[in-house]
Amino acid sequence: MVVKVPKDKGIDRTYAIFKDGYQFIQKRVQNHHLDVYETKILGSKTALLSGEEGAKLFYDNERMQRNSAMPPRVLKTLFGEDGVQTLDGDVHRRRKNVFMTLMTPESLKLLHEITLHHWEQALLKWQSEKKVVLFEEMLVLLTKTACEWAGVPLESKETKKRAKDFNKLIEGAAKLGPDHFASRRARKRLEDWAAALIEKCRKGELDSKEGSALHEMAVHRDTHGELLDAHTASVELLNVLRPMVAISRFIVFGASAMRENPEIRKRISNDEHYLRAFTQEVRRYFPFFPFLGAIAVKDFTWQQYPFKKGQLVLLDLYGTNHDPRLYENPEQFTPERFHKQKGGMFDLIPQGGGDYHQGHRCPGEWPTIEVLKASFSFMAEELDFDLPKQDLHYSLREIPSLPKSGFIMKNVRRRV
Ligand code: HEM
Repeated sequence: MVVKVPKDKGIDRTYAIFKDGYQFIQKRVQNHHLDVYETKILGSKTALLSGEEGAKLFYDNERMQRNSAMPPRVLKTLFGEDGVQTLDGDVHRRRKNVFMTLMTPESLKLLHEITLHHWEQALLKWQSEKKVVLFEEMLVLLTKTACEWAGVPLESKETKKRAKDFNKLIEGAAKLGPDHFASRRARKRLEDWAAALIEKCRKGELDSKEGSALHEMAVHRDTHGELLDAHTASVELLNVLRPMVAISRFIVFGASAMRENPEIRKRISNDEHYLRAFTQEVRRYFPFFPFLGAIAVKDFTWQQYPFKKGQLVLLDLYGTNHDPRLYENPEQFTPERFHKQKGGMFDLIPQGGGDYHQGHRCPGEWPTIEVLKASFSFMAEELDFDLPKQDLHYSLREIPSLPKSGFIMKNVRRRV
């Protein structure tokens, strides 16, 4: 049977990305019983992939590459130029390995402890404050956590400024106008700061611990045996710090899920198994990274669709995590689904899919889960507060999304 791959007719759909947000690909691919759809972005034919099969193709290094896939507006804000995200082949594998070596069981345990310590400190401070906006506080808490874990010195007077800049990077890629340019300026400030730390570390002016991100980025040698130039090393150090701060969004989403169902809180504090399942469901259910881009490296046909060499290909992360073929009632928040379902290479992909070493899957999945578990257990066991009237809705059109109020708490106290 010959199936015609559906496509958007006529005009360019770049604007529709802003209009449809997280559902841009889902709206197009679903109901067609295929995992591919054609649209036009920035004047060029673009293939949209979704679902487990779509993810498998996207992570096939024989058919897809990352170099040149990322638009400059994303590189100049969120990711930075010349970072691991833009590399392919051996050069990518070698650079990626630096990130992978940071993720030892000991260092993840340390991260858990650091996170809990900063929650304790934050609770002490919040008890004397009238009102606390969880999202803003998480940006600061995670900036401290990330820097301590990465071996980066951070003075208390600079913490808020760095936290704000990290958030500007996270928000800036999808923004237009002044907010986008503010994000570029924030990247410049952060790269200058990180590059200076790398230089100091190399000159021995800063005591950096072996195994910390700062140390490992400073001493890493590329496939030619050369140290990374200070700018590239700074981009990679920020590739650890920035996404750690981004976990703040999952924490706020998790807080609002706990508020909607008080049973969740009780179960989290009593059941480690449930805590993990809740953490996985937060990562699956709530919107964060909408989609990823790659470039087809050759002409080939897949599911009746003729891919052309050089063509832009987008993989639907949000839609795959909400694919009814993979998840029963995907629009219901149901942590229990992860008691049975494990989350495989290509079905649970909030942080990308495939193999960590061979492909671009996020090396920060373990630290993300560790920080979330520490945070959710602290919130369930130690934190009590009043929840004033506020708007906790979030929009699937806004990238990155967040509950509107940022989760306001009043009369914050320790749970007795
Ligand atoms: C890559 C999401 C946390 C470091 C990625 C990718 C996504 C993602 C979608 C792209 C995967 C691909 O291109 O195939 C997230 C989310 C996070 C998070 C939503 C939590 C809020 C972290 C953390 C770290 C980290 C905590 C570091 C400690 C990286 C790096 C890459 C990456 C270095 C590039 C990997 C490569 O190109 O090979 N992340 N991430 N991320 N992430 Fe994360």
